[in-house]
Amino acid sequence: MTRKEFLSQVGAGAAVLFVPACLGSLSGCSNAGTVPAAPTNVDMTLDVSSGALSVKGGYLVTGGIIVAHTAAGAFLAVSAACTHAGSTIQYVSGSNSFRCPNHGATFNNTGAVTGGPASRSLAQYNTTLTGTSLRIFS
Ligand code: FES
Repeated sequence: MTRKEFLSQVGAGAAVLFVPACLGSLSGCSNAGTVPAAPTNVDMTLDVSSGALSVKGGYLVTGGIIVAHTAAGAFLAVSAACTHAGSTIQYVSGSNSFRCPNHGATFNNTGAVTGGPASRSLAQYNTTLTGTSLRIFS
């Protein structure tokens, strides 16, 4: 076997390894059935005077909910578990949206799906800011 043949075969093998686990099927992931239920009967208060939520673009995850402070100064709260396979989503301040780091699903600022493989929206929660107290409730 020549060096070129060896590299060709290794390259083909490596390409197979990097095929996304869910390619070609929206429900084909082995862990697709393990999505935690979105929190219900939510009513919590967070102090936004310090920490991640004190800065625009910051976010945190608590109690199964991701809370984000937008560049415009608003607060968003949606369920944190990706509806595809349950990974914890992230807030993307630049686009004021949410993204799953696992397989790349995207959601808008209300939790609606904007890109697969997820097909169901995130749960959205209400937010009310009073001083530095942010109430998050369903
Ligand atoms: S877990 Fe698959 S896209 Fe989020």
